[in-house]
Amino acid sequence: MKTYLVTGGAGFIGTNFIRHSLTVRPDWRIVNLDALTYAGNPASLEDLPPDQAERYRFIHGEIFNFSLLDSIFSEEDFSGVIHFAAESHVDRSILGPEAFVKTNVEGTFRMLDAALRFWRNKGNPEQFRFLHISTDEVYGSLGPEGYFTEQTPYDPSSPYSASKAASDHFARAYFRTYGLPTLITNCSNNYGPYQFPEKLIPLMLLNIKEEKSLPVYGDGRNVRDWLYVIDHCDALIRVLEKGKQGETYNIGGGAERQNIEIVHLLCDMLDRRLNRSGKDSSRRLIQFVSDRPGHDRRYAIDSTKIRQQLGWAPGYNFENALEATVDWYLEHMEWVESVRSGNYRKWIELNYLNRS
Ligand code: NAD
Ligand code: DAU
Repeated sequence: MKTYLVTGGAGFIGTNFIRHSLTVRPDWRIVNLDALTYAGNPASLEDLPPDQAERYRFIHGEIFNFSLLDSIFSEEDFSGVIHFAAESHVDRSILGPEAFVKTNVEGTFRMLDAALRFWRNKGNPEQFRFLHISTDEVYGSLGPEGYFTEQTPYDPSSPYSASKAASDHFARAYFRTYGLPTLITNCSNNYGPYQFPEKLIPLMLLNIKEEKSLPVYGDGRNVRDWLYVIDHCDALIRVLEKGKQGETYNIGGGAERQNIEIVHLLCDMLDRRLNRSGKDSSRRLIQFVSDRPGHDRRYAIDSTKIRQQLGWAPGYNFENALEATVDWYLEHMEWVESVRSGNYRKWIELNYLNRS
């Protein structure tokens, strides 16, 4: 049995990663350290089947609490760390950057430092890896042509992407300076079950269902490269098990879409399910609002390295997996209501009230 420490496992990708890896790796135990911020929901993992629940341990706490980290690392013999915990929403980073520095920069530094102490004392140090999960946003914005490769210089635009860039530099520095076996992944936009409804796809699909306006930033022509979350999780397992320490791997879906195309698709998918048509069609709800400051125009990943060196490729078709995501939300409205607390409503007011 191998034990892995997952941070941020009560969030969107972490939840999917824990559910997926406990299923496909029956010899894994997972310890999940999560602070349960507005984005973390332990209910997302409460219904694990019994054989998986017994291989799962939850610890409530902050990744920048170094005494807590030391006590966790002294209690368990980890084979690795999969570090997801972060403040992850660009709009929130614009309205309140400080939490992003605290968690994404200081928190990652504390995780690396605690992992280094653990690794140095570990009986079998060759059997340990620190996988740092990052984003394509560190590379900045693309024009209409070209792709982000692992050699693209960092050029972050938002406080979120700047804080993730800083955390990537720390992960790389801990490998080069101390030899800690770190690996970094930079992934494009994920979608799928359990995503907090502040992000484009769940926000729009729930607004469509509830006949609320659909706030499209700017001209709606910004492009993102979409990847189904389970494809991301498979790529992470592959990097953890087969990746070369000290290396970076870009992960992308090869499914570039303009935001307005996504909103149109979601309107049409919901219209079919809710029997709306003609003048009732959900597209009437679209509202172009003022742009996000520093809004990156286009992201697109060149994932040749992970495809060629680790044999990974996305398995899900974009439109089919988006249909499945729509169905998941419609069938899990209890989960949606449980994450839409009073704080959520306050955030929606703050972010959208002054956009015209
Ligand atoms: P999320 O916001 O849904 O979840 C973040 C989780 O981290 C939450 O459970 C939260 O409670 C926890 N957390 C926050 N601060 C913490 C702290 N100080 N201590 C412990 N736990 C804390 O995020 P996500 O979308 O699942 O993203 C996970 C990771 O993947 C992030 O590092 C993000 O930068 C990266 N990433 C996300 C995407 C995407 O499209 N969502 C794409 C590429 C990379
Ligand atoms: O590229 C990877 C990144 O993808 C991750 O690192 C981030 O954690 C994740 O949040 C995501 O960042 P984005 O800023 O691309 O995602 P978001 O869902 O916030 O926005 C997607 C696009 O949709 C973006 O161009 C802004 C636009 N948008 C978003 C919202 C919330 C709108 O037009 N209206 C909206 O209301």
